[in-house]
Amino acid sequence: MKILVTGGAGFIGGNFVHYMLKEHKDYDILCVDKLTYAGNMETLAPVMDNPHFKFVRADIADRDAIFKIFEEEKPDIVVNFAAESHVDRSIEDPGIFLKTNILGTQVMMDACRQYGIERYHQVSTDEVYGDLPLDRPDLFFTEETPIHTSSPYSASKASADLLVQAYHRTFGLPVTISRCSNNYGPYHFPEKLIPLMIANALNDKPLPVYGKGENVRDWLYVEDHCRAIDLIIHKGSVGEVYNIGGHNEMANIDIVKIICKELGKPESLITYVTDRKGHDMRYAIDPTKIHNELGWLPETMFKDGIKKTIQWYLDNRQWWENIINGEYREYYKKMYEGR
Ligand code: NAD
Ligand code: TYD
Repeated sequence: MKILVTGGAGFIGGNFVHYMLKEHKDYDILCVDKLTYAGNMETLAPVMDNPHFKFVRADIADRDAIFKIFEEEKPDIVVNFAAESHVDRSIEDPGIFLKTNILGTQVMMDACRQYGIERYHQVSTDEVYGDLPLDRPDLFFTEETPIHTSSPYSASKASADLLVQAYHRTFGLPVTISRCSNNYGPYHFPEKLIPLMIANALNDKPLPVYGKGENVRDWLYVEDHCRAIDLIIHKGSVGEVYNIGGHNEMANIDIVKIICKELGKPESLITYVTDRKGHDMRYAIDPTKIHNELGWLPETMFKDGIKKTIQWYLDNRQWWENIINGEYREYYKKMYEGR
């Protein structure tokens, strides 16, 4: 069995590569990644010598390069993680989100049609459902919730999902889609809430909370997400969408306070800054379908997962310091200075 994983030098894709090589020792994993600012070969360093692992640098929107890879490698299953993934960047510059997230998905599926495939799995997000109000804790996203996007990022992911469903209906491509809530864990790029707050707190820098910090996200430990995708590609029904979520809703400000407490840093580091444009209020997944059909449940409680995550950032300082001392510095200045 050969699995082509796109975006495997990123956060979730990288964790998925590690997870699959550990869980399926006889599988070959082929990682295809463009190595954008978010791709990091350090994340893959522990598996580069594994004979069941291979890395190819390519852009999923580059038709010639992708078709050549399929021609040579003939993968059995494709899991498409590759994407531009940061909402704030999509507000600054939507174009690349449309190219990678929509056209890249089309190229990957065209290659699957041309060369044949057992399964094409699209890694999507709960953000395609838009947001829920804070005063309706009884509401959750189900797979039937209408698509209703807010940011250029979520609009591009939703567009890709529609295209994936169209390729299934029109061409009979054997697809599945998963829509997951916010992940956290090792190898998370420090532009996202949890790793940014850990890195800043460790450096005694201000902790920039958008608006009032009351926005709610449903946090899932990344390994639980990887296990869900492993189940879906092996046992999920073709043509279906599966929501994945941790039943772990938390307001941003509470997350930041927990990080301060765990690191022994003062809450006075917290700085309220100008809110994100179009900021979604609340995400909350109903994971009943994947639980009933595939027996999936999250295994890592947030109180344990956040400790493991913080410990990873303490043990792997070089990994994130290399990032924050590189070109990321310019991004940080642009996004946060004087905000
Ligand atoms: P990430 O930004 O950490 O990693 C993205 C990876 O894709 C990087 O390695 C990057 O180099 C690569 N990439 C970007 N453009 C590419 C292109 N054109 N061709 C090839 N590779 C390219 O993202 P992530 O947080 O790991 O997210 C992975 C996927 O999961 C995305 O599709 C995202 O929409 C989805 N998702 C993320 C979350 C989350 O909480 N992070 C939650 C739900 C779904
Ligand atoms: P983020 O990690 O960017 O994920 P997403 O927007 O995809 O959910 O942000 C999570 C939440 O944290 C979101 O409500 C925005 C907020 N946030 C801050 O308050 N400060 C920050 O510096 C960042 C990056 C995010």
